[in-house]
Amino acid sequence: MRNMLVTGGAGFIGSNFILEALKDQGKYNIINLDILSYAGNLENLTSVEEHPDYHFEKGDVCDKETITALLQKYNIEKVVHFAAESHVDRSIETPEIFLKTNVLGTFTLLECARQYWSQLPEGYQNKTFLHVSTDEVYGSLGEIGLFTEETSYKPNSPYSASKAASDHLARSYVHTYGFPVLVTNCSNNYGPFQFPEKLIPLLINNILNNKPLPVYGEGKNIRDWLYVRDHCRAILCVLENGNIGEQYNIGGHNEWTNIDIVRLICKYMDEQLKLPESKSSSNLITYVKDRPGHDLRYAIDATKIKRELGWVPSETFETGIQKTINWYLENKEWLSHTTNGSYQNYYKEMYGNR
Ligand code: NAD
Ligand code: TYD
Repeated sequence: MRNMLVTGGAGFIGSNFILEALKDQGKYNIINLDILSYAGNLENLTSVEEHPDYHFEKGDVCDKETITALLQKYNIEKVVHFAAESHVDRSIETPEIFLKTNVLGTFTLLECARQYWSQLPEGYQNKTFLHVSTDEVYGSLGEIGLFTEETSYKPNSPYSASKAASDHLARSYVHTYGFPVLVTNCSNNYGPFQFPEKLIPLLINNILNNKPLPVYGEGKNIRDWLYVRDHCRAILCVLENGNIGEQYNIGGHNEWTNIDIVRLICKYMDEQLKLPESKSSSNLITYVKDRPGHDLRYAIDATKIKRELGWVPSETFETGIQKTINWYLENKEWLSHTTNGSYQNYYKEMYGNR
């Protein structure tokens, strides 16, 4: 069994990843390190909190002592690094925390793992550090073209710039120290447990609460959407079979303009909530001021991961979006805890004040 440190495992993708990885009985012993920021919610992991191969540790990826102690305590062999500040709009308002968590946090984790692993008798043998990143590091596409692993980095927001910096640091550790890094760059994810500040859960939540559905600018920006569990399976695939030192793009060839996504969600929500046409949720669509520096289009060329590792997504957008809407409708309590902040008490109830 491999001891695996997952950072940011109480967030959206990290929690889905832990649930996916634990399906493989006896393969991984998972240690989830999370600071429990506004985006970290242990309710996402209630189904595994008693699982013998799952352990939660509250802590900061920027804290060297905490990380070194965890690497030693659990004899960590695999690191999957999700922890980050992840929302572009917040990065425009408060960029500093993005630099701290995403750049310094990644650096601290890389450096602690390098120091710990390099002094072991077997060195880097069987060790892997997988850094989870985004396609936003590549900047914005025009109407044609796709991001490949060779596309040069041109980040446009403080969020994407901080992720780009962390990708570069990870890459530098391979070249300088022969450190065993893999980097994945994925397109926009959607699915259960996504904090309702990101487009898709925000739309669902606002429809449920009869609130406006804000569409930035003219709604013509394009994103390439992937169901979160497909992303998680791709990460496991890269972790287990990827070539050390390499980078893998992950995406589902599923481009949508924002306004088309908004209309689609309205249509499905109207069906689920049995709303008559006169009360359609599309009446809530509201065009608002555009996001500063709003990237026009993202689209991933996922040929490499398909060709080299055989990964392809399992969900179509149709099945993924239906599953997602159903999940939010069945988990209104999760939505209300998340939006009113009361989920933050969960940790105290479970673990006291430690
Ligand atoms: P999220 O915001 O839902 O979760 C982030 C998690 O990190 C939270 O649980 C939070 O508490 C934790 N965290 C924040 N600061 C921390 C710190 N200093 N120490 C320890 N934990 C800390 O984010 P997400 O959407 O799940 O994204 C996870 C990763 O995947 C990020 O690195 C992001 O850049 C990347 N990514 C996200 C998407 C997407 O569409 N959401 C797409 C591609 C890549
Ligand atoms: P978001 O979910 O914030 O992801 P990202 O900015 O990382 O792609 O936004 C997805 C797209 O939806 C993006 O083009 C911005 C747009 N958007 C809106 O139009 N309205 C909103 O309320 C939000 C949150 C996003």
